[in-house]
Amino acid sequence: MSLFRRTRQTALLCLLLALILHYLPQSTAAEHMICMNGGSWTGQICICPNGFTGDRCQDVTPVVHCQNGGTWDGLKCQCTKFFYGQWCEQVEDMVEIEEPTVTASVGVSVTVTSQDFTEDLKNTSSEEFSKFNKTFTEQMAMIYAGIPEYEGVIIKSLSKGSIVVDYDVILRAPYTPEYENTLDNVVKNLETKIKNATTVLVQTNDTCSALLCFNSTATRVQETVTVNENPEEACKKEAGEGFAEYITLGLKGDRWYCITPCTAGYSTSKNCTYGKCQLQRSGPQCLCLTTDTHWYSGENCDWGIQKSLVYGLVGAAVAVLLVILAVLFVFSIRYRREARRQKSRVNEMFKWGEEDGRGTPGTFHNIGFELSEEGDNYLPLDSMYSNFQPSLSHIDPENKNPDSEAAGSCDIIVNANTEAVLPAPVELRTEDKRAWPGVMGHTL
Ligand SMILES: *[C@@H]1O[C@H](CO)[C@@H](O)[C@H](O)[C@H]1NC(C)=O
Ligand SMILES: *[C@@H]1O[C@H](CO)[C@@H](O)[C@H](O)[C@H]1NC(C)=O
Ligand SMILES: *[C@@H]1O[C@H](CO)[C@@H](O)[C@H](O)[C@H]1NC(C)=O
Ligand SMILES: *[C@@H]1O[C@H](CO)[C@@H](O)[C@H](O)[C@H]1NC(C)=O
Ligand SMILES: *[C@@H]1O[C@H](CO)[C@@H](O)[C@H](O)[C@H]1NC(C)=O
Ligand SMILES: *[C@@H]1O[C@H](CO)[C@@H](O)[C@H](O)[C@H]1NC(C)=O
Repeated sequence: MSLFRRTRQTALLCLLLALILHYLPQSTAAEHMICMNGGSWTGQICICPNGFTGDRCQDVTPVVHCQNGGTWDGLKCQCTKFFYGQWCEQVEDMVEIEEPTVTASVGVSVTVTSQDFTEDLKNTSSEEFSKFNKTFTEQMAMIYAGIPEYEGVIIKSLSKGSIVVDYDVILRAPYTPEYENTLDNVVKNLETKIKNATTVLVQTNDTCSALLCFNSTATRVQETVTVNENPEEACKKEAGEGFAEYITLGLKGDRWYCITPCTAGYSTSKNCTYGKCQLQRSGPQCLCLTTDTHWYSGENCDWGIQKSLVYGLVGAAVAVLLVILAVLFVFSIRYRREARRQKSRVNEMFKWGEEDGRGTPGTFHNIGFELSEEGDNYLPLDSMYSNFQPSLSHIDPENKNPDSEAAGSCDIIVNANTEAVLPAPVELRTEDKRAWPGVMGHTL
């Protein structure tokens, strides 16, 4: 029994110690934290001004520009109820209207008989007018008492007769789907009240105990109500200039919401078939989906293309390209090999020329290289070289007469040089055909 008690005591002590240890470092840290750069200490953290961050606001960061009326609270943008996101850049799809009300006005005209008209009453800044205004307002409040929607009166004009008062009765009613019916009923109630009141008061004209007395037959009440402000306008105002034109009202159940074209389920809803709607300043936009099998695009993301089809087409195009490249490669190899073969033939010829101890054929050799290095056209070269061949074949290697050999190579140089200057390779060929064998034959 005592053992149990001792263990319990130890456990309690341990708990106490743990609690103290837990709170000790925090409280000491809290006491010593000094916020820099104009940050303010809440007791737990530093609230940094815009442009600074860190435990003690020691780090400089780019100033955050909260959009759409959002404000920087030291940690993040505090958005108005219409927006969200890091910079309040996103528009909410639906915002519930807390107490949707509508204000309306009804025009009424009454004739006051207990007071005479004076010119001063026309001047709304005059003392006369404000006195009359006060009396009239009080009288009306009494007459319309019992109408919950009654907000007040606004005198529009005063004119002679005795005093004809044109005024607006201001009404404020809850915005319900049936708000128009409600207002109509209010107007009927209002008319009954003012007519009864003026009748009763005129009857007591002789002893006008009320503030004002009226001509019973002159009372007129307008039949139509003018709605001055409704929740839709309130929504637009709250959304701000950039988005106001896209905001409308939507009813869901018996509650009203500020909605956008991106809110699903209304006649105004934008249908992004395979995408997500996002409201931007330029209007509602569909951000299209990419699924495992399809890409979607188009105004409403309703135009889809199968990924496999795209891959197939791209694959086919790449294959065709590869084949073309391969063919080109093979051809170029063949041409190059041919060119090299021709070059080595020329080299052989050059060597053959060197063998007789004269350096002059070197010039001839160079022309061949210049042409082949430019790589303009293998064909003329080819034909030129092949035209040399029969000519050279005329040379009898056994015949080592130095004089005739020297004359032969000399002729070749001259011809080769002049022909290299000629612009058209075709001409070169025909010239060769005619000239070379003759020249060679002649010299040999
Ligand atoms: C209206 O009344 C004010 C105050 O009595 C006076 O200063 C002003 O001149 C009047 N205006 C006119 C147009 O009578
Ligand atoms: C009449 O008095 C009310 C206040 O009782 C005031 O709000 C209103 O503006 C006055 N009307 C005019 C036309 O000055
Ligand atoms: C007319 O006004 C009088 C006095 O305010 C009131 O007793 C009476 O019930 C009213 N009648 C109607 C139909 O409102
Ligand atoms: C109302 O009373 C005024 C003054 O007391 C009087 O001049 C006027 O004729 C009366 N009007 C009616 C309709 O009895
Ligand atoms: C009451 O108004 C009617 C019509 O507006 C008019 O004919 C009648 O003379 C007026 N009565 C009084 C006492 O002003
Ligand atoms: C959107 O459009 C598609 C086809 O155009 C249609 O099948 C779908 O029902 C529409 N969705 C809505 C919510 O209107």
